[in-house]
Amino acid sequence: MTRPTPRRPSAQSRKSQPQRRAAAPAAEPRVLDLTIGEIGARGDGIAEAEGTRIFVPLTVPGDRVRVRVAEPASTRGEGLRAELLDLLEPGPGRAEPACGHFGRCGGCTLQHLDDSGYAAWKVGLVRGTLSRVGLGGVPLEPLSRTPRGARRRARFAALKRGGRVWFGFNERMSHRLADLADCPVLTPRLTALIAPLRDLLAGVLPDGGACDVVASDLEGGIDLLLVGPRSLDRAARDRLVSFGEDAVARISWQADDRGSPEPIAHRRPAAVRFAGVPVTPPPGAFLQASAEGEAALVTAVTRAVGEAVGQAGRVADLFAGIGTFALPLARSAAVHAVEGDAAAVAALGKAVAGQRLTVERRDLFEAPLSAKELSRFDAVVFDPPRAGAAAQAEALAQSKVPLVVGVSCNPATFARDARTLVDGGYALSRVYPVDQFLWSAHVELVGVFRRP
Ligand SMILES: C[S@@+](CC[C@H](N)C(=O)[O-])C[C@H]1O[C@@H](n2cnc3c(N)ncnc32)[C@H](O)[C@@H]1O
Repeated sequence: MTRPTPRRPSAQSRKSQPQRRAAAPAAEPRVLDLTIGEIGARGDGIAEAEGTRIFVPLTVPGDRVRVRVAEPASTRGEGLRAELLDLLEPGPGRAEPACGHFGRCGGCTLQHLDDSGYAAWKVGLVRGTLSRVGLGGVPLEPLSRTPRGARRRARFAALKRGGRVWFGFNERMSHRLADLADCPVLTPRLTALIAPLRDLLAGVLPDGGACDVVASDLEGGIDLLLVGPRSLDRAARDRLVSFGEDAVARISWQADDRGSPEPIAHRRPAAVRFAGVPVTPPPGAFLQASAEGEAALVTAVTRAVGEAVGQAGRVADLFAGIGTFALPLARSAAVHAVEGDAAAVAALGKAVAGQRLTVERRDLFEAPLSAKELSRFDAVVFDPPRAGAAAQAEALAQSKVPLVVGVSCNPATFARDARTLVDGGYALSRVYPVDQFLWSAHVELVGVFRRP
């Protein structure tokens, strides 16, 4: 018999913040037979019943399903969420999931969809999101794909109860942990570390303790950051220091999300290369999720900039991180990289010797580059976090920069910012969709804006 998965204390409850607003009263559970019509933006199948949209995870269009309808899908009145009780008749386009954890583990949403349906759904997500802001006619390049075993960065969660450690990803829409044995999405070096990390954390976490582990597969070995154990006693530190000597290049520890990482073991340089230039990322730093995804994004960005900007050109890379785009762009133009995170700025600053690259630390939400500041650039690249770059897009819309290239992991905020740029006179000439988060409901994209 499988043991019940413990519920992981949420970040909210761990920080003992005030209780959230009371949830709306749950609807009376009902059993319904439905036909799935489409897959929604979060990867759930959608059926219509009694004028309401009903979201059913793990279904594909054409499925006849028996479901238990229980709760509002969101507080925004989008419809109802249902649990799949029985697949009465499968729709076309179903596939055998690649992973035994699929359905429980929240890391993947769409393994049950065949490959062509899956790719078409991701492209449709981009097209549909752009259509909602009146930009549905923009030419889309073919979807860039990322193979299995390519994801090089992951944030795992761990919890120790009764001497046993649960280690993996949260279940969908839940704080429960799906205990992971392996994962077809991650690089083999990260997958090989799952069991050893579980054993390690049994000796590091106190009973009832939880932490996250950010693992990045870098040149030189794996970079590990433990976020969460409030303190480490001597024995826990010793275990970390001697953990995974062959596979792990660096181990750091941070008491909570807002703290600073403390180095625990640094055996070899842990680096990543952009345009051949080695950069040492700060522990837990943002890194594009796969080398293949990064290559597709960099190719789209450098091609667009290269077509418009010569060697004498000046390019701003906003939300530059540790230089994913700035360093490749600096091969053919003078680049000014702007980034808000101090550690990322310092890492990029150390790598720029001999490059035509300057680096500035700046909060681009609070203090976006103004239209006047932007006037010295021939092209601007911006790659914000999921929230998008509303304030920076407003300033760009007022600028005269001839070429703007937007990179985004969130089509919804990209579409909002794209609308701002188009309303400011830019034409969105091309969009490159990039599937970097295999089998998830996420898709990345690059959009090229020109001033006619
Ligand atoms: C999606 S990442 C992209 C990083 C980089 N372009 C890359 O591809 O590796 C977004 C970056 O925006 C930075 N960021 C987040 N909020 C910011 C803000 N308010 N001002 C400036 N940078 C910010 C993050 O630190 C992160 O490096």
